[in-house]
Amino acid sequence: MKETPRPSLTQNPQFRIEDDDPARPRFWDEKYESREALFGTAPNAFVRAAASRIPQGARVAEVGAGEARNLLYLARERDADVTAVDFAEEGLRAARRRAEAAGISLETTAADARAWRPERPFDVVLVTFLHLLPEARAESYRRLQEALVPGGLLLAEWFSEAHADKTRFAEIGPPGAERMISANELRKHFPRAGIEQLDERERDLDEGPILKGHAAVLRFAWRRPIS
Ligand SMILES: C[S@@+](CC[C@H](N)C(=O)[O-])C[C@H]1O[C@@H](n2cnc3c(N)ncnc32)[C@H](O)[C@@H]1O
Repeated sequence: MKETPRPSLTQNPQFRIEDDDPARPRFWDEKYESREALFGTAPNAFVRAAASRIPQGARVAEVGAGEARNLLYLARERDADVTAVDFAEEGLRAARRRAEAAGISLETTAADARAWRPERPFDVVLVTFLHLLPEARAESYRRLQEALVPGGLLLAEWFSEAHADKTRFAEIGPPGAERMISANELRKHFPRAGIEQLDERERDLDEGPILKGHAAVLRFAWRRPIS
């Protein structure tokens, strides 16, 4: 376990590197190298709240899984068969370390969310705080839908566009309003019949050292139609 943050990252308390690019794996690898449990060890609050909707033994993937805190929780609570997908190898390395320490079998896939297509669709797909640029999002939404079996469930939480107002919300989350998500965008890209939950709310995030503070988020649950 690495205890000492890298100097380049400690210069900024939020671990922001303004001239770096979150669309590249290196940006995230540096963060994961800098310390363990970047997003804490507890699951995301929405994933925890929705866990009872996930069938026991379900096949669950998370896209942009990082250190896999959500998947390890679902493996424990729902006996889920879990797969972590991320383009940051350091995040996946930490995820494997955590899984091994917990005696959990975790599949890891190094892949870009903008191009990922699973060999076999999943019962549940999770996304928490994966913020792609607008030009990549339509395609990623299509891929998320296709990654589900018919009847399968997508659970996602993102910073909403309201979070761009820094007079009201903490300086956390993606750099730039263009990475934040609106409810209308989700209504446009996901067939409405499948939308089980789409709500915008303010929350006090407490999910590790860089996701701590008052935030505007969208919580989204979408079920792939059976036919
Ligand atoms: C804010 S972190 C959230 C990690 C995890 N979902 C959690 O809540 O603990 C965003 C994650 O998305 C990953 N990511 C960002 N862009 C990606 C892309 N295009 N393809 C795959 N992973 C990506 C990053 O490597 C990082 O692990």
